[in-house]
Amino acid sequence: MKPFLRQTILDVEESRIREVANAGMGRSDVLAFWFGESDEVTPQVVRQAAIDSINQGETFYAHNLGMPALREAVSTYMSDLHGTIGVERLAITSGGVNALMLAVQALVDAGDEVVAVTPVWPNLTAQALVMGAHLKCVSLTPLQGQWVLDMNVLLSSITSSTRLLIVNSPNNPTGWTLTRQEQEVLLAHCRQTGTWIVADEVYERLYYENDTSNGAAPSFLDVCAPDDRLVVVHSFSKSFLMTGWRLGWLVMPAAMTQAMGKLIEFNTSCASVFTQRAGIAALQHTAGITPQVLAHLKLCRNTLVPLLQALPGIELAPARGGMYAFFKLHGHPDSVATAKRLVLEAGLGLAPGEAFAPAAQGWLRWCFASKDLGRLVQGVDRLKAWL
Ligand SMILES: Cc1ncc(COP(=O)(O)O)c(C=O)c1O
Repeated sequence: MKPFLRQTILDVEESRIREVANAGMGRSDVLAFWFGESDEVTPQVVRQAAIDSINQGETFYAHNLGMPALREAVSTYMSDLHGTIGVERLAITSGGVNALMLAVQALVDAGDEVVAVTPVWPNLTAQALVMGAHLKCVSLTPLQGQWVLDMNVLLSSITSSTRLLIVNSPNNPTGWTLTRQEQEVLLAHCRQTGTWIVADEVYERLYYENDTSNGAAPSFLDVCAPDDRLVVVHSFSKSFLMTGWRLGWLVMPAAMTQAMGKLIEFNTSCASVFTQRAGIAALQHTAGITPQVLAHLKLCRNTLVPLLQALPGIELAPARGGMYAFFKLHGHPDSVATAKRLVLEAGLGLAPGEAFAPAAQGWLRWCFASKDLGRLVQGVDRLKAWL
């Protein structure tokens, strides 16, 4: 008899982050740093654009690939960062996670081999599994609190049988970020093997190093040709404080765009118009929003990391990008159990490392995107007292 649901779906693990959060959600005494979002509300100018749109009666379907005005605005924004990226390479999506799923739906058949660099936000690997992919994870290695890539191991894992490489840089949860030279090496290799790259670059503007000319993290868009087998995933969530809006975009080879429009029709049909109006306003005010978000996150990182490093048994290096402190807690090998105990016994909500890769067992992720720096200090005090 056929199973009740697709076995693939039954087999995909539920989020271990949710498992911990469910233990403490709704408890006002818990300081929650488990989800990957800032606690700061979306800027007023962006909210107002959505309100105006609704008040003007913009409550109808939009084009599958997004409103022309938003695609134009994204094209200008991306071209400023990475050289010309025309609208014919762009699709607007209902969030970064939707963009990732669309990319995988377009590229991966059941049984295809997909290589993913881990630890990584679990949605990326789960999406490939939902499509029935044969998933091969290549793990970064922890070295004094910092996760590093062994390029030879990654290259030898990508062969002519590999349909797709999934890589998230700057990385959630480790903060690891590919260098331009590593991107060039990976691209050259994937060109040879005919492997697609899905690059999740949603944290590109949340980058703390000063080694690129545009201030953003190194991007595959800077090293690839327009027709390379590359899809880059972006989101309004992180650099514009818009997690709840569900708005993102994809950059792809122009030859793929029409098919992507078809897929969007079957998934969500389009992002809502008032949300897209908010996206246009966000891009118009990038200069007034994103540098402030970055500066504040840097302050958060620089506040939290030394405090954690001063605690006994903690191994941690400052993230190069993203918004997470990812640390090993020696003497506490089961990260889900530890995270649950921290919720119940210390009122501190962190995400378990195990959610991101088996190799991250014993690690914990702390999202430092906190409007109030005092919350971070208070959280460390709770951890210290608990330890
Ligand atoms: C690595 C990564 N990619 C994509 C996303 C998706 O963001 P959203 O769907 O809110 O745009 C997230 C959110 O946490 C993320 O961490």
